Amino acid sequence: MIYTLAASTLTVAAPLGCDTPAAEGAESVRARSDVLVTGADDEMLVLEVTEANKVVVRLPRLEVGQGVTTAVAMMIAEELDARLVDVSIPLAEARRKGNQYTGGSSSVSSLYGPARELAALARAKLVTAAARRWHIPARFLRTEGTRVIAPDGRSATFGSLTASAARVGRPAVSSKPKPVSKHRVIGRPTPRIDARDIVTGRAQYAGDLAVAGAKPTVVARPPTLGGRVRTLDDRAARAMPGVRAVVKVAGGVAVVADTFHHAFKARDALKITWVPGPLAALSDAEIRARLQAAVPRFGTPPRGSAQTEAKFEFAFVSHAPMEVLTAVADVRAHSAELWFASQSPMDARDSIASAIGLPASKVRVHVLRAGGSFGRRLNHDAALEAALVSKAAGRPVKLMWSRADDIRHGRMRPADHHRIRASHAGGRVVAFAHSVATVSETNDGLSAGVRPAAFARAAGPLPSHSGLYNFGSISGDWGSVDLAVPIGPWRSVSSGTSRTAEEIVVDEVARALGKDPVAFRRTTLRGKAVRAVLDKVAAAGEWGRALPAGQAQGVAVHEEYGSCVACLAEIDATDPKNPRVTKVVMAADVGTAVNPSGLEAQLMGTAVDGISTVLRAGLHIDRGAVRESSYADFRYARQRHAPLHFEAHIMPSRRAPGGAGELGVPAAAGAVANAYARATGSRPRRFPSTSEPSISEKVPMPSYSFVLNGERVTVEAPADMPLLWVLRDLLNVTGPKYGCGVGVCRACTSHLDGGEIQPCVVPVADCADREVTTIEGLADGNRLHPVQQAWLDCDVAQCGFCQPGQIMAAVALLKRTPRPSDADIDAIENVCRCGTYFRIREAIKKASVKFPGQAHDRIRSRSPTLPSASQRFAEDLHPGLFDRPAPSWARRRGETVELVDEAQGLLLAGTVAGLPV
Ligand code: FES
Ligand code: FES
Repeated sequence: MIYTLAASTLTVAAPLGCDTPAAEGAESVRARSDVLVTGADDEMLVLEVTEANKVVVRLPRLEVGQGVTTAVAMMIAEELDARLVDVSIPLAEARRKGNQYTGGSSSVSSLYGPARELAALARAKLVTAAARRWHIPARFLRTEGTRVIAPDGRSATFGSLTASAARVGRPAVSSKPKPVSKHRVIGRPTPRIDARDIVTGRAQYAGDLAVAGAKPTVVARPPTLGGRVRTLDDRAARAMPGVRAVVKVAGGVAVVADTFHHAFKARDALKITWVPGPLAALSDAEIRARLQAAVPRFGTPPRGSAQTEAKFEFAFVSHAPMEVLTAVADVRAHSAELWFASQSPMDARDSIASAIGLPASKVRVHVLRAGGSFGRRLNHDAALEAALVSKAAGRPVKLMWSRADDIRHGRMRPADHHRIRASHAGGRVVAFAHSVATVSETNDGLSAGVRPAAFARAAGPLPSHSGLYNFGSISGDWGSVDLAVPIGPWRSVSSGTSRTAEEIVVDEVARALGKDPVAFRRTTLRGKAVRAVLDKVAAAGEWGRALPAGQAQGVAVHEEYGSCVACLAEIDATDPKNPRVTKVVMAADVGTAVNPSGLEAQLMGTAVDGISTVLRAGLHIDRGAVRESSYADFRYARQRHAPLHFEAHIMPSRRAPGGAGELGVPAAAGAVANAYARATGSRPRRFPSTSEPSISEKVPMPSYSFVLNGERVTVEAPADMPLLWVLRDLLNVTGPKYGCGVGVCRACTSHLDGGEIQPCVVPVADCADREVTTIEGLADGNRLHPVQQAWLDCDVAQCGFCQPGQIMAAVALLKRTPRPSDADIDAIENVCRCGTYFRIREAIKKASVKFPGQAHDRIRSRSPTLPSASQRFAEDLHPGLFDRPAPSWARRRGETVELVDEAQGLLLAGTVAGLPV
């Protein structure tokens, strides 16, 4: 049942009680009067038609780049016959009750029924209101373009009808959603509704907010996981200009300052000795050994069967969203207000309220869009920290984790160990056993014990229990090793490793039986839908085509969330230590694909996740500390690691939507691993491979004048203040993003005198009397730069956080090289954690055709002589696929670099010591 809320404008509401992924559309409904007078909309999805002719739905979900706001806008536009631009989907703040959870790839499937039903009822009431106004039978009226239209040509906007529609009781026309055959919006590839904001730098994330009085805040953290402050001498830090407060928190020591530059400098001036964390004696090798020992044993295999057995190790993996964790908190004596991106804001609100000693009803949580998540924002550690610092400092704060904080102290996909045994006889698999041991988080330090399997089993059945393959008797069990390591669900959760390992074994069984991997899967997969996606990729990807030595194809499938997917990958492993996936073909059956363009983007992202986690990116623990600290050593794929050729095939379906956001990871990872194995003749087993003085009161500041986006600006700032913080904290120019602060991620990319720079490593003093261009200065008024337009045309962005930097890098490239080759595009270093590389390539090529060839008005061609970040970092110094480099490294800036590659004279990946940040 859909309710009409008592309001002066048309406001309808659908219950949203679903806590689990529901692939079958509408939620259960309650039968009673359809007019609600109270604020029970907490549990509802609420649609309001405003007098300004906007259709507004406050979404109790988080936009992390997955495109849920666009998908919901499409559902609403479809049923209302409204223009997409007239539909607005702001994110709802934390509610008092109901379901406000974003996860499990459930958003679109759980909203598909309620959103369409809401809009269908609203349409019926608007038509009825128009019929009454015009004295025309309602059945003769139609709706189009956010208007009701009469046969004689009269028309009225929804906004002009909303007040009278609010008083319509029983509508005079059907209020049922359209049949699929009538869909005109759902199912049509549609650009994101927030794309223009993203490509112009206007999309706002938590770090971009200007909340009155909220001061930049960073935290000094211990070298080891779970370490604690032993002694603190903060006198030097407190005496530094711009420092507002120094506060001890559970995870370390927080510094509140006027800008992030001042906060980082004062953080580094703190003299802290640390009590080592509980894992200080533990390193990767021992964790792997413990996991191996914790894998539950198998029973006896069927008599007379042959065995294909394998063991697999997967490293810890960081979520590493491009937008580091950031939260604004304003905690007062009797109330608190917070702004951050959260996948579970109600839980966050409750636990923050309890930590700061306020009733939950006094804590308000505003939910902001996220610059990626991949499961990371199910936890709210930064927001909790921000609230505690705000309370202790007695002022609002904008707390940001540095990239190193995020990678070294953030949550991670747990390392795990798999043992799989396939028993075959008579040319078929008769039994399949898969046991796993995974790292579980404990709060009480290192536990030597291994959890009993019966306890760990609560984690759920093994994926092989889903019966994807007809493999006879299926068995398996879970074990775990408890460690004080922050663990968090990572895109595709346990399937990311379990199903990847199984798909590798399926290939090895096929080989043992002398069968082709695709043909073997075809005959053993149980489901028609999954066979169909396999057939699709085999045909579209020309499975079996001849390839030169060192190159090969690999294939894998996966089924979850009421959906299924297949992936075919081609790899060039001529240099086995530096392979490149050259082609990916994916096919997915997700039921109704509300926005095929968004779905394709999600599949692209999962393909890059597969490439990254199998070939490149993992975390390693060395004496209780995470070794990696940025994208330089947590080696998430870049443009040059994404295949030049990507195809997504979306299977036609009339089923209600299933889940899609996480679906592709295991298939992509499995296909990449299988391709690598076939190309090299190897058996990959370990992954991845390879007091409050103000600035002016304390110290007279030098001032710098430069031209920013065509306007001369003058700022007072220390000479060494990175341009990034001058732009963001002093000039409120927030298009350039912070993603690492050390010139590695390129999220801040802007131009200096027309040449590309990373403002996070360029001191403001170097910009005096020069010309700085950020994303905000690229467009000519409302006329987008050709590169921005190409980005819109190709619907490039997902979460959008990296995109200002990507666009500025692309503009710089096209200025240097108007017709760039694939190799030129590969040289772009900017990280996109959502994996939009395919569309970036397409957009650059499209823009290269239109690019004026002349310098853009504001972008002069003089190249800066500044050093580029790539001169300082060499992330590929350890390109070995399954190598384990074992360097020592600096834990914090200012510490000594202990290992330098003498031959190349470069800092090793992962060191940050000595960098000008
Ligand atoms: S913030 Fe990463 S390169 Fe500037
Ligand atoms: S990091 Fe999200 S779009 Fe690139």
